Amino acid sequence: MFELLFPFFLIVLFFLVLAIIWRNKARKYISSGTVASAYDAWTKDKLLERLWGEHIHLGFYPTGKKNIDFRKAKVQFVHELVKWSGLDKLPQGSRILDLGCGIGGSSRILAEYYGFNVTGITISPAQVKRARELTPSGLNCSFQVMDALDLKFEDGSFDAVWSVEAGAHMNDKTKFADEMLRILRPGGYLALADWNSRDLRAYPPSFFEKLVLKQLLEQWVHPNFISIHEFGNILGTNKNSAGRVISENWNIYTNPSWYDSIIEGIRRPMTILSLGPLALIKSIREIPTILLMNWAFSRGLMEFGVYKCRG
Ligand SMILES: C[S@@+](CC[C@H](N)C(=O)[O-])C[C@H]1O[C@@H](n2cnc3c(N)ncnc32)[C@H](O)[C@@H]1O
Repeated sequence: MFELLFPFFLIVLFFLVLAIIWRNKARKYISSGTVASAYDAWTKDKLLERLWGEHIHLGFYPTGKKNIDFRKAKVQFVHELVKWSGLDKLPQGSRILDLGCGIGGSSRILAEYYGFNVTGITISPAQVKRARELTPSGLNCSFQVMDALDLKFEDGSFDAVWSVEAGAHMNDKTKFADEMLRILRPGGYLALADWNSRDLRAYPPSFFEKLVLKQLLEQWVHPNFISIHEFGNILGTNKNSAGRVISENWNIYTNPSWYDSIIEGIRRPMTILSLGPLALIKSIREIPTILLMNWAFSRGLMEFGVYKCRG
């Protein structure tokens, strides 16, 4: 009897230990400093880069097309957002700020493919170091540590601001919009993608949805989520925006990324295993949050917002 129950006991114990690690090691937002340390840790242990590649954002999967490689879908996402936001109308050499640039995946495409002069900023020193290592010399692309809520650039110094999946880490969304639009020149382009909740005031969350939102906030250093509509209003009423903000919900194009990001570890097992047993535990630890994200985005509790407007 004991022999029969032993494997079952081990499995239960394994998941219990994981659950305890998951709860105790929550990465709650306290300040931008906690965001910096979380991304420093994610960058230094190399796990995120091995699994997600140089783009720390979701991929774009055209409707009806399946079996697209996760990493190719991420590259496609950059080109789709460039096209949708009108950035491709800017001439070569235009000055672009990549705000919340990660390890520079988008920045390098914007510099290499579109010929832009790109400055990437992130709150994480480890990401800046890694972005510089990954960027070939000669590419018009540089990186700095800077807080998006306190940009050290003159008013109107960029022809475009590009920001992908950084806004959900900002505790003050109005200040975030103020800073982006302040440093954008009149007539310049804003291209933004972000994780939003549905309008929770108009459609209050159920008890279970509240629990899910709490986990999504606390596991990945998010202070709060707001809806696409709310953030669109913040942008549209800013004194430096030309007024008309266009936003869309891209859930349908980006949702396959969640399962793909788990399958990626199965497809390329050595990318994790070669980093040692701790990497395996760390990667398993992220699975519940990824599954909750998938659930929330596919049920419409979360929305993938894209925005464009002119300075
Ligand atoms: C999900 S990652 C996206 C990275 C990158 N945009 C990409 O698509 O690969 C979020 C990024 O936002 C940055 N970030 C978060 N809060 C920030 C802040 N207050 N100031 C500057 N960067 C910030 C993080 O350091 C990280 O690089």
